[in-house]
Amino acid sequence: MLSWEKIDAIPGWFMFQSYCVWRALLDQQARVAGDLFEIGVWRGRSASLLASYRKGDEKLYLCDLRLDEPAVQRAIRSVGSEPVNIVPLSGPSADLPAKLDLKAMHQTVRWFHIDGEHTGTAVYRELEFANRIVNTDGIVVIDDFFSPRYPANTTEAIRYLEKNPFHFRLLAVGFNKGYLCRPESLPRYMDFMASGMSGALSAYGAKTTIFKTTGPWDTDAVGITDYVANHLEFVNGVATGRLLPPVLAAATKASWIRQFAEREGINLSDSYAYSDSMSDLPMLSVVGHPAAVNPDMRLRQTALHHDWPILNLK
Ligand SMILES: C[S@@+](CC[C@H](N)C(=O)[O-])C[C@H]1O[C@@H](n2cnc3c(N)ncnc32)[C@H](O)[C@@H]1O
Repeated sequence: MLSWEKIDAIPGWFMFQSYCVWRALLDQQARVAGDLFEIGVWRGRSASLLASYRKGDEKLYLCDLRLDEPAVQRAIRSVGSEPVNIVPLSGPSADLPAKLDLKAMHQTVRWFHIDGEHTGTAVYRELEFANRIVNTDGIVVIDDFFSPRYPANTTEAIRYLEKNPFHFRLLAVGFNKGYLCRPESLPRYMDFMASGMSGALSAYGAKTTIFKTTGPWDTDAVGITDYVANHLEFVNGVATGRLLPPVLAAATKASWIRQFAEREGINLSDSYAYSDSMSDLPMLSVVGHPAAVNPDMRLRQTALHHDWPILNLK
């Protein structure tokens, strides 16, 4: 039977939290038919999970620059599945349209994982490719989404979404991955994110509830259910320019984060924080992965001094 221990014994990058999120979402596709597709397989860590969710005559397409088929087959067997109905695609993802019959594959794929080249150009092209073959219930997963190491993964995916609002919508972001689905199925998946995701995650052993979504009505947003924000003071419907107490800023923000993490069992050394302002230094200092985004001069100096990633977004 599939377990995290078996997946974790396979070399690769796929994280425990993503294992839980994938299982929760793939369980939602139990009555959906469709093939599974991965770009960027390495030794088959995430592909093995997909192999164990393959049903009946569904296919598992595996594309990698240099696909190590024997290693991937061993990995799939090691999680208790048979490596059948695999379509091996060794070579760059840019060659996929020439290799496959895209007309025949129209709307046939229910899971599409982008974890290959990690450049903006490749992600954009792979989204165009995914759009040709992913079905109405399909989910597209983009690796290293919002990762400071690969900013173009995020900016190009968002550019694609902005240009093509009827292709995919952003369903969720978490644990280094972005999840997209078709606009038609967004309300259904969003309902699940809001009502069932937390329970499903804890059933698979993830001690976290901080997976973020919005309600199904907010189809454009990045997606947040669990958030805290300052409140503006209004008098007669006009904002006064002041904030209502308690104001979350500087050290107060950091101590709120500490308390929240303790209450929710969140490991702050595994957590990320992003800010543009030196006033957030306390917050950036309590997490293991701080990043400066379009920082002011003082924060830029501090980030350079500590070797924190600096994102310059336009
Ligand atoms: C981060 S690894 C994939 C990790 C894997 N999904 C796992 O679960 O461990 C990235 C893989 O993408 C492959 N890759 C890099 N550029 C590619 C491209 N243009 N087309 C297809 N695969 C590519 C690399 O060979 C490498 O095996």
